Amino acid sequence: MNSSDLRQKYLDFFKNKGHKIIPSASLIPENDPTVLFTTAGMHPLVPYLLGQKHPEGNRLASCQRCIRTGDIADVGDDTHLTFFEMLGNWSLGDYWKEDAIKWSFEFLTQELKIPLERLAVSCFAGDKDAPKDEESANIWMNLGIKKERIAFLSKEDNWWGPAGETGPCGPDTEMFYWKDNNEKTPDIFNPKDKRWVEIWNDVFMQYVKNKKGEYLPAKQKNVDTGMGLERTLAILNGKENIYETDIFEPIIKLIPAELDERKKRIIADHSRAIAALILDSVRPSNKEHGYVLRRLMRRIIAYEFISKKDFLTQVLKQVALQNGVEFEKNSINTVFSEEKNKFLKTLQKGILEYSKIKDINSEKAFYLYQSFGLPFDILKELDIEKTKNLKYEDFEKELKKHQELSRTASAGMFKGGLADNSEATTKLHTTAHLMLAGLRKVLGEHVIQKGSNITAERLRFDFTHPEKLSPQQINDVENFVNDIIKKDLPVWFEEMPLEKAKKINAMGVFESKYGQTVKVYFVGKDKENVSKEICGGPHVDRTGVLGHFKIQKEESSSAGVRRIKAILE
Ligand code: ALA
Repeated sequence: MNSSDLRQKYLDFFKNKGHKIIPSASLIPENDPTVLFTTAGMHPLVPYLLGQKHPEGNRLASCQRCIRTGDIADVGDDTHLTFFEMLGNWSLGDYWKEDAIKWSFEFLTQELKIPLERLAVSCFAGDKDAPKDEESANIWMNLGIKKERIAFLSKEDNWWGPAGETGPCGPDTEMFYWKDNNEKTPDIFNPKDKRWVEIWNDVFMQYVKNKKGEYLPAKQKNVDTGMGLERTLAILNGKENIYETDIFEPIIKLIPAELDERKKRIIADHSRAIAALILDSVRPSNKEHGYVLRRLMRRIIAYEFISKKDFLTQVLKQVALQNGVEFEKNSINTVFSEEKNKFLKTLQKGILEYSKIKDINSEKAFYLYQSFGLPFDILKELDIEKTKNLKYEDFEKELKKHQELSRTASAGMFKGGLADNSEATTKLHTTAHLMLAGLRKVLGEHVIQKGSNITAERLRFDFTHPEKLSPQQINDVENFVNDIIKKDLPVWFEEMPLEKAKKINAMGVFESKYGQTVKVYFVGKDKENVSKEICGGPHVDRTGVLGHFKIQKEESSSAGVRRIKAILE
């Protein structure tokens, strides 16, 4: 079975069970300040998991592209990736444990024809916050999973979410496959044995964790599932690792054979992440998404540099092909070669500097990294003797001392999280719609949204415009928004086919992909209508509650894109 067969089989299966197939959303979460990247299929669905109505209904399935920077140190082993695809199905307050587990079982054993003999599952053991999940275990047993193949584990293993500090979460049940082809599957499931590979996770979101750390029963009980496409593909083809699948083989083939296995795998993984990020409009920079992209790029450029070969262009060309885009006509090519040229210049200087230093300690390593971008993991490879006293922990301490870098590199931003949908963020979300309308009125119709990031304190908004705004223009935008607030216009939505939304000129949020039916939010009725945007919500009901709008800062974000920070007072 190849990757497209598996993708199709999964989506067809859930379509037959009444699910609507939704497209993969952008890797950059929209309106979610607490996550840098989409890390699971549920991220784009957060407003709906919290109770908003989804225009496509309450049974959904998708194949979502994900980035998990938290796994970066594990890349190179048999199963971890920074970029991967997650197959998932959701019940938004519809079916519950019985159907979710029954369908997981049916898909694994009947569609994928995985022998029952090779499966095991884990369920939540129970603690002070929630009871032991006997219900799930009984459903599994009724389907034929033996008692010895069910492990009850604590929150650390069998609980999912909230992805950030607060939000929907609950016990989960995970499915494992025995991958060792040389040894008979043990009768008793030992979750510590690495030959049991986790392939699918059914999460029962029946709690919402609040700011105080309490787990309160959710108003709407959801099912959220996630199956790793690459892992499942490997086991279905009897492969020990993901790199032997049709996704990776054509990429690995283009990397010189003499490079060690781990590096080959890192190059293959990072190239896929790099291409995906560029296709989602991320550009290398020293901040946030751009910083991660730069870090991934520089790591593999450094590998290529020390190998004294030239292969990355071919590798990325192959990755582009697998993404269905033409490399030469696409931004992957130009963005990558620009960054490579830039980096090679400093890298050469860095290596010259490196050759002058006798003993490389953490301080020196940090200096080489900060001034020349020389990645830590190539320092040792350049000279083992010189770097014998160098430890990663010490280097990391140095890194943390450096304010700007540690801000993005620290765990917080990479951990993932959910927007809190609090009153303050909801207000700023509506304000963002008003501001976009104001910018288009004052500056012109060329203004489109390139991204937004909202916390309870402020709104940050990127949009296309070639030059700095004048104080007068800023003033005009503020007045436009404050006028609408004063008018206390109603905010309302209508569900409609995507085609109709386009016809009525509803604004779309950057490069999102939409399903067939979308939600369009309007501000003001009929003649007073000032804004139409395709959006998941939530929003305030009337503009009058917003308070006073103020633009605090206007600056350049990247070429042709401006950034505004604004608040409500
Ligand atoms: N959201 C769940 C996961 O990522 C399904 O495992």
